[in-house]
Amino acid sequence: MPDTPDLPIVRTIADLRQMVSGWKRQGFTVGFVPTMGALHEGHLALVREAGERADRVVASVFVNPAQFAAHEDLGSYPRQEARDAELLAGAGCALMYAPAVGEMYPADATTSISVGAPAEGLEGDFRPQMFGGVALVVAKLLNQVQPDVAVFGEKDYQQLIVVNRLVRDLDISVGIVGLPTIRDGHGLALSSRNAYLSEAELAVARRLNGVLAEVGAKAAAGGPLPAVEAEAREALLHAGFSHVDYVAVRRAGDLGAFESGTVDGPARVLAAAWLGKTRLIDNMAV
Ligand code: PAF
Repeated sequence: MPDTPDLPIVRTIADLRQMVSGWKRQGFTVGFVPTMGALHEGHLALVREAGERADRVVASVFVNPAQFAAHEDLGSYPRQEARDAELLAGAGCALMYAPAVGEMYPADATTSISVGAPAEGLEGDFRPQMFGGVALVVAKLLNQVQPDVAVFGEKDYQQLIVVNRLVRDLDISVGIVGLPTIRDGHGLALSSRNAYLSEAELAVARRLNGVLAEVGAKAAAGGPLPAVEAEAREALLHAGFSHVDYVAVRRAGDLGAFESGTVDGPARVLAAAWLGKTRLIDNMAV
């Protein structure tokens, strides 16, 4: 695909580094937004935030095979590179980095990353391969781009916690910024996977944030967490979700469980639930 008029696209680490080091020589700071493409307003808000914090913004578009299990939707994950490039240009991005799988993962690469506790439980229980794959690609992307600041969405809250720990533990010199979830007019968290939903499923999906808000209110009022979480699970099934992986109220800082069984500090409620073949996640502050 040729570059869009406003947005250069690079596909190799060498070309990326040449561009970014040129900016740095001119004294510009660099912001970075990693994505898997199929961009929506939520991603564009990350790009605009990066633009507020740095002189030049790089966005990567890379559907990362390492974070998908064999049975997951890697093959059918939405891909729309030309549209993504237009949207990025409109949001003020200065460079799109869209490497091929072979550029990111040479055939003889053997290194893996295990983040430990923040990657365990919640998403880690249901998608055990995911955070190893996320940590590996995020570490590589941060090394490749070498940004001053990188912006991630709170929509993937556990991912944000994992990335913060990764950056701290590996002494990667970058500021990580978490941006609140962007929602549609009905409160549904924007997600590339919403594109899979039928009209009827969309109507059910829009109930998820309301149920989370109710759990949060009950938990904040001192409700016993196992009971409050069980009620929320029932409420989601009653709303029409076909299956609930988890609804959990956890410590906001590290996603550990509240040992007292009630909320006694900053908390986050998180859920993952299925509508047919589509798995949705959402979370909010309690
Ligand atoms: O959040 C995502 O889209 C992905 O997990 C990320 C951070 C781009 C890594 O592939």
